[in-house]
Parts: sequence; C-alpha cells; structure tokens
Amino acid sequence: MLNAMRVVAGDLKKLYNVTLWNVVHVILTGAPAGVLFLVILELLKPADQLSVSYVVLLFAGMALLMVVNVFLGIRVLVQSYTCAYTLSTDARLRLGDHLRLLSLGFFKKRDPGDISALMLQDMAKVEMLFSHLFMDAIAFLVLPGMMCLFFLTQDVRMTGLMLASVMLAVPALLLAQRVVGYFGRRQITSRNQAASRLLEYLQGISVLKAFSMTGKGFVRLDRTLLRLRDDSIRLEAAGGAPIMLYALILDCGYAALLVYGAWLLSQGALALAAFVLFLVIGCKFFEPLLKFGMFFSEMRYMSLAAGRISEVMRTAPLKENARPRIPDRHDIAFEEVSFGYAPERKILDKVSFHIPERGMTALVGPSGSGKTTVTSLAARFWDVDAGSIRVGGVDVRDILNEKLNEMFSVVFQDVYLFQDSIFNNIRVGKKDATRGEVVAAAQTAQCHEFIEQMEQGYETQAGEGGVRLSGGERQRISIARALLKNAPIVILDEATASLDPENELSVQRAISALIRSKTVLVIAHRLKTVAGADQILVLDKGRVCEQGKHAELLRLNGLYARLWNEQQRAGGWKFRRGPAENQQYREGT
Ligand SMILES: Nc1ncnc2c1ncn2[C@@H]1O[C@H](COP(=O)(O)OP(=O)(O)OP(=O)(O)O)[C@@H](O)[C@H]1O
Ligand SMILES: [Mg+2]
Repeated sequence: MLNAMRVVAGDLKKLYNVTLWNVVHVILTGAPAGVLFLVILELLKPADQLSVSYVVLLFAGMALLMVVNVFLGIRVLVQSYTCAYTLSTDARLRLGDHLRLLSLGFFKKRDPGDISALMLQDMAKVEMLFSHLFMDAIAFLVLPGMMCLFFLTQDVRMTGLMLASVMLAVPALLLAQRVVGYFGRRQITSRNQAASRLLEYLQGISVLKAFSMTGKGFVRLDRTLLRLRDDSIRLEAAGGAPIMLYALILDCGYAALLVYGAWLLSQGALALAAFVLFLVIGCKFFEPLLKFGMFFSEMRYMSLAAGRISEVMRTAPLKENARPRIPDRHDIAFEEVSFGYAPERKILDKVSFHIPERGMTALVGPSGSGKTTVTSLAARFWDVDAGSIRVGGVDVRDILNEKLNEMFSVVFQDVYLFQDSIFNNIRVGKKDATRGEVVAAAQTAQCHEFIEQMEQGYETQAGEGGVRLSGGERQRISIARALLKNAPIVILDEATASLDPENELSVQRAISALIRSKTVLVIAHRLKTVAGADQILVLDKGRVCEQGKHAELLRLNGLYARLWNEQQRAGGWKFRRGPAENQQYREGT
C-alpha cells in the first residue's frame, strides 16, 4: 500500500514532519491520564504524608498540558490537512498530465465513468489516506506501544495479559482486511459501472427520450444502480462483522485484565498502586487500538483506490525516443502501415502512400473504410501495428509528442467544445492569442456574426461538449481554432459536412486561405468538395485501391468513378410518399 501511495503522492517525505507532531499530540492526549495516576497514588498515601499542594500542582500541570495540547492539536490539524490537500492536488495534476501522455487506446479500453471515478472518488479516498493514515493510524499504534513499555516496568504478568488480548484480536483485523479487499473490489467495479451508465444516460438523453427509454425504461442504468446498492451493503455488512469481533476481543481483554488484577491484589501479589495504574491507564491503552481497528478496514478500501490510481500512473505513455528529431519538411509518408483497434480486426492492411508538402490530398472511400483512422495515425493518437509513418522523412515515433502536436491542425469529424466561453474555445488553437487574433480567425471561419448575436457574444458559454451550439456552429468554431493554430499540416475530417450551402461556400474560401501554404489532408463524403485536390486517395477494405487526380480516377472507372456517378445521380434526393415499401430514401427520383 505504501508503494501505491508513494506512486500517487510522488514523495511521502512531506508527511513525516506533521506525523511526528501528531505523535507528540497523541502522547500529550494520554498524558492527563498519567497525571491522574500520580494524583491517585498521592491520595492513597496515609493522611499525614499527603501533600495537598503537590496534588494542586499536579492538577495545575494537567490543565497546562491540556491547554498546550489544544493549541498543538489545532496546529497539527491545519498542518495535516494542508499537507494532505497539497499532496492530493499535486497528485491530481500529475495524473491529469500523465493521462494526456497516454495513447487514445488507453481511454477507449476503459469506460469514461471509470476514469472520472478515478479522478474524483478514488482521489478523494487517497486524500483521506494522506490525511488520516499517517496522522491517526500511526499515532494510534505509537501511543499504546509506549504505554506498553511503561506497563512492563510495573507488572510483567498484567502487561502480558494485555498483549495477549491484542494478539488474539489481530486475526479478526486481518480477516476484516481480506473481506474489505474482496467486497471493496466488487463495490468499486459496480460504482464505476454506475458512473459510466449515468454518463451514458445523460449524454444520450435525447436518443433515450426519442425512443421512450427514460426513467425505468433505461434498464442498463437501473440494473447497475441496484447492483451498486447491493454491493455497498455487502461491503459494509461483511467488513463490519470482523471489526466488531476485534472490538469485542479487546473489550474482553480489558475486563479480563481487571479480573486478573483484582485476583492478584486479593492474593497480595500486586500492589494497589499498580492495580490502579492498570485500571486507569489500561483503558487509555485499548482506546486507540479500538479506533485503529475501525480505521484499518477502511484503510484497505482506500488502498484499493490508491492501487487503481498508481496502476494508471504506471501505465507507460506513448514511447518517446531518447534522441528525438525535428523534421524540416512536412510531407507525410505511410509505408506498409497495418493497424487495427483490436488484434482480430485489421482496419488498414499494408497501406502505403505519400502526401506531398504544400499540396491538398483528399481521402475518400465508403463509411468505415478507415479515413479517420488514417488521420489519427498520422497525428500519432495511436501507434501503428506494423510499418511506419514519416513526417518530413522522420518516423513520428522519433518526434516528441509535443512537437508533433504542434505540427497538426485538426478539424475533427466530431467537434468537441469545452465548457468554457466561446472565446476560450477558439483560443485553444493558440494559448497566447490576442482578442484581435481570435476575432480575425472567427471572421474568416464565418462564425463572428453568429457569436456577436449571442447574448454575451464571445463570452457566451458553449456548454459541455458545445451542447448550446448547433452542429454547423460548432464546426465553424473548430475551423477558427485550426486557423488560429496555423500549423504546417492541416487535417480536415468532414469539416464542412454540417454547413448550409451559403456558409459552406464561405468556409470553403476560408479553408482555401488556410491551406494555401500547408500540407493538407481532407476527408469528405461529398466528392464535389474535393474534386479539385492535387491528389485523391481512395480507401476501401483496408487498402488504398485507387490514387490520382479527379479526371484520372474517373477514367479508371473504378470505385471512385462509381461513387462519383452515384452522387451525381443522387443530387436530387427527396422523400416520397407512396406504398410502404417505397417510404424510404429514393435515389435519382
Ligand atoms: N476507437 C475505435 N475502436 C474500435 N474500432 C474503431 C474505433 N474507431 C473506429 N473504429 C472502427 O474502425 C473502422 C474505420 O473507422 P473510421 O472512423 O476510420 O472510418 P471512416 O472511414 O472515417 O468512416 P466515416 O466515413 O463514417 O467517418 C470502422 O469499422 C470503425 O468501426
Ligand atoms: Mg471518419
């Protein structure tokens, strides 16, 4: 567990100092009991030897200790929480940084709810581990340990009995740990599934409403929530039982101590003072151990959370070459590239092509043929399974991720906007852009006008994912981002697909301005928009099946020509009312 904590916290040394102060604080908390013992000893003396002033002095000392300890307690509390929250904030930031370096594959393999639970709930548990484990758990052990040394000097038999009861209780504690480990894992799995289903429910609410699947209708959410309830109850019930047993054994230990002490006293084998000592301070010995037991099983659950976070932190990011290179050109070459998201299904099979610098290459092909995949590989969102991708002659794996990201401006097929102002959403393209630059990019991307018409202009919030904007508006903002970034390689994945004809024309013009001096890879279903490209690559069934200019490809009379002719014919699509079998899209009618 400490290992996992070290990975999460980076450095646990920051906790040592505050832990030490806490130990002092806990010892001082036990000190009044010691003073009380001295008072009782004094009171047991014959009346003529009793010193009232000594007793008063002892009480005064006790009061002073208590006051000092209150201040120390406040100091320790502030220090420990400051330390815990600093550590956990650092850990969150490092985790965020680390997640950024991981390949997209990592995120696609895990549910989004799982990752958000990791950042929020698991981190909160680790926060508790930082603030309590070192503070409380260690102090709860140190105090009885020190008391034990003192008891040994008073009576070995009584101390032996105390220790024996602790030894008897330990197996129950270990059992609790195992049980919490087992049920905790199950509860965490259901918790993450519930978080994922909830996210799915919220994100897909429009689809669910359209198909009357809200409320009880969305069985997947109901089922996971019920499982979470059951697993949480099981965890509490199963983990609680051995802890109760642990507490019971310790309580019985204290009772046995008193009975044994009384018997020894009656036999004249134990001094009254020693008996009083065990009577008064004995309960202070068991108290922290009881608290430790309560905390110990929860610690197991917290350590599961720390383990999950450390597992992610240990996941190796995309490998970077120790001697990175920076290309001086920006052409892109795919050489015998094979790739599949899953090993059993190849999406690209030994694909080779060259995208010249400062030219426009179009990628066309049926839906699902792998066009978006090609762009993701070029920008190294994923690593290829075989072959290589070179930018300016340098393998993308030899270029630092950060440098590679700087080279690409991507207008994604699915535009994502952050829950921030529109201004900041455009500024994602260039962190230090001035207001003038942002507005200029927005004007070129034909979004200035609609932004100005919004109630707060550029300060209007886009909503999470950009929900407050239409598909076409989001796309234009994404183009503005790309314009602002002004990177040497531009990838446009269906960048104008959601625009109306009027806006499309002006955005096309803007894009022409953007791409004049760049290496451009454009994907479009509507072949008309890419007919003028310097080169067209036709992708089908994992291979580039045709390649050339528009006129050459038409002459080939292959897949491209077929797609082109179909689209020409489909120019006048319309819905038609008619017999049931005809109530669908009709082409060319
Ligand atoms: N993250 C992913 N995990 C698993 N499979 C994926 C993933 N992304 C895409 N695929 C699969 O890979 C294939 C190629 O997808 P890709 O998105 O590259 O197609 P596309 O040519 O861009 O299609 P479209 O024209 O519809 O955008 C598809 O069959 C798709 O199901
Ligand atoms: Mg695509």
